[in-house]
Amino acid sequence: MPTHGPLNLLRPMRPTPLDALPERGRMLRESLRIIHDEHEALSAMLRSIGLMLDRGPGNEPEGFFNVLRAMLFYIDEFPERLHHTKETELLFPRVARLAPQTAPAIAQLDIDHARGEAAVRELQHLLLAWELIGDSRRAAFETAAKAYLAFYLAHMRLEETEILPAAEKVLSAADWAELDAAFATNCDPLTRKYPRDPVYDRLFSKIVSHAPAPIGLGK
Ligand SMILES: [Fe+2]
Ligand SMILES: [Fe+2]
Repeated sequence: MPTHGPLNLLRPMRPTPLDALPERGRMLRESLRIIHDEHEALSAMLRSIGLMLDRGPGNEPEGFFNVLRAMLFYIDEFPERLHHTKETELLFPRVARLAPQTAPAIAQLDIDHARGEAAVRELQHLLLAWELIGDSRRAAFETAAKAYLAFYLAHMRLEETEILPAAEKVLSAADWAELDAAFATNCDPLTRKYPRDPVYDRLFSKIVSHAPAPIGLGK
């Protein structure tokens, strides 16, 4: 019988290329598994944000703005600071060196990383403007948020289709050991797969208990 809840819903819905790897290969590539897990968690978060946008604040504006604010803060706090930094600093340079055909995609992804943090900060500001000033600012937030969701999903798709498969082919055991150690310190709470830092418990609980599926338990 299927179980319902964020843990179950955050699992990949379809086999990823990683699932096709032999067991030994998967054990060697913990960092790739972590990247996939974090992409899944982030995709779920982005889909929930899209659902909330479609529904709007209705007659519970306080809850709506609270949880949306928490979700944007989460994106700013985890993927922007930890996930992207490690891709740009540790993964991409190695792949670009050993698989030069990936250089154009990596250049694009690095540009995305560089503008991602500013983009999510801008969204947080636009959301506050809508909350504090009112409906005259709603369209500006909705337009920017939809563009951001599309941008982010395309970014992860490019990593998954071009960079990660190339990395699997060209990186050495020493490269993987270093990457695995670095990515293992991310501990993104929304993947629900690694011990999480208790200082983020409040943020995590707020999102999971109020946001709609697939990230949370809310309606
Ligand atoms: Fe990235
Ligand atoms: Fe990524």
